[in-house]
Amino acid sequence: MPTCLVCETPIEPFLSFGQMPIANGFLSPSQVADEYFFELKVAFCPNCCMVQLAKLIDREKMFHENYAFFSSTSVRMTAHFKSFADWVGDRYLSDSDPFVVELGSNDGIMLQNFAARGIRHLGVEPSANVAQVAVDKGIQTVSQFFDEELAQNILAEHGPADAILGANVMCHIPYIHSVFCGVKRLLKPHGVLIFEDPYLGDIVEKTSYDQIYDEHAFYFSAASVRYLADLHGLELIDVLPQPVHGGSMRYVLGRQGVHRVGDAVAHLQAREQMLGLKHSGTYEELRTRVEHSKDALRTLLSDLKQEGKRVVGYGATSKSTTVTNYCSLTPELVEFISDTTPIKQGKLSPGAHIPVRPYEAFTSEPPDFALLFAWNHADEILDKEQPFLADGGQFIRYVPRVEICP
Ligand code: SAH
Ligand code: TMP
Ligand code: ZN
Repeated sequence: MPTCLVCETPIEPFLSFGQMPIANGFLSPSQVADEYFFELKVAFCPNCCMVQLAKLIDREKMFHENYAFFSSTSVRMTAHFKSFADWVGDRYLSDSDPFVVELGSNDGIMLQNFAARGIRHLGVEPSANVAQVAVDKGIQTVSQFFDEELAQNILAEHGPADAILGANVMCHIPYIHSVFCGVKRLLKPHGVLIFEDPYLGDIVEKTSYDQIYDEHAFYFSAASVRYLADLHGLELIDVLPQPVHGGSMRYVLGRQGVHRVGDAVAHLQAREQMLGLKHSGTYEELRTRVEHSKDALRTLLSDLKQEGKRVVGYGATSKSTTVTNYCSLTPELVEFISDTTPIKQGKLSPGAHIPVRPYEAFTSEPPDFALLFAWNHADEILDKEQPFLADGGQFIRYVPRVEICP
């Protein structure tokens, strides 16, 4: 029986997606024979309410010198991180000569804004290739996994931090207690830990099951974050919903009793009560909706195939690996996936082995339908794809429901 990564209570698996490859493991044909698979299974902890993966894979299999996700591929995300950084600066960096640490700083998409303002900063980014992009931009970066030991080393070398930040990374770290112990060591007495990740409430509301994949060990809510914070003498002092990545939540934590707790925390807890996030029945219902979504998507794509329509995937996202494998989408149903990231182009998608082609392949031979794997970037993409739509092209979405749009 697996136990909770936070409180060690036996956890209740509620959904298995079957055998899955590494979500970002884009591969060449010669690597197919050695492709790694594991059972992707998600579980609910009835004690601390943390939703989490029931089985984890080694971090070195996911984060390494060939990591395929470069944050700066999205223009909207670049703008999002500028406003995130400005907000942190205005609100939490009042000391003279402040110091900001970011976990999972990737290609420097957030820290470049602090660097531009001459603010002392350090990125912690274990994937060496993306870390190098940040270094080349002049952003201080150490290419290691963050944990308590590294926090101690950073403290010794740079002194305490005013703010420790993380976006789409805290949910990636199963050894979360080491991270929180490290944060507690490294923060100034009135310092803050601010992180944002896909929000469990949005996943439940939108049936966005593709947020579930190997890298996402945790699916946070205010309830589970409060429980975790409390174990480490920290306090959840604010929550700010974010539209990015299909619905994220920004959590602000400080040392217990140091900060005023914002009203938004209680409001979010009331919303979670309404959504039933503390009840296992909610997750059983989610499983049923996920199963229906899979059937609907397969039926739609099979029908389109029979009608002789061409369907191409839009965005070789990590999330799409869950969809293509769980719904058994083959290159017969989805001809190729268009993606702007050079490291993914010319490769095969993990598990489903759908070819990934540059964006130019999409524009030079526009399909009848674009299956919107990058649905979390829909606004940016729909803006850009007005010519495709004007020529009669259509998008297929599967979140929050399977449908052809517009
Ligand atoms: N913050 C960026 C990148 C998110 S992807 C954004 O929001 O776009 C997650 C990143 O976290 C990857 O670059 C990965 O290499 C990094 N990461 C994974 N485990 C980590 C750990 N233990 N400490 C710090 N970074 C980690
Ligand atoms: P993400 O959902 O994890 O942010 O990944 C988005 C992927 O989609 C990334 O590989 C880049 C790709 N992409 C495009 O190909 N075209 C686009 O317009 C956008 C916004 C993303
Ligand atoms: Zn628990």
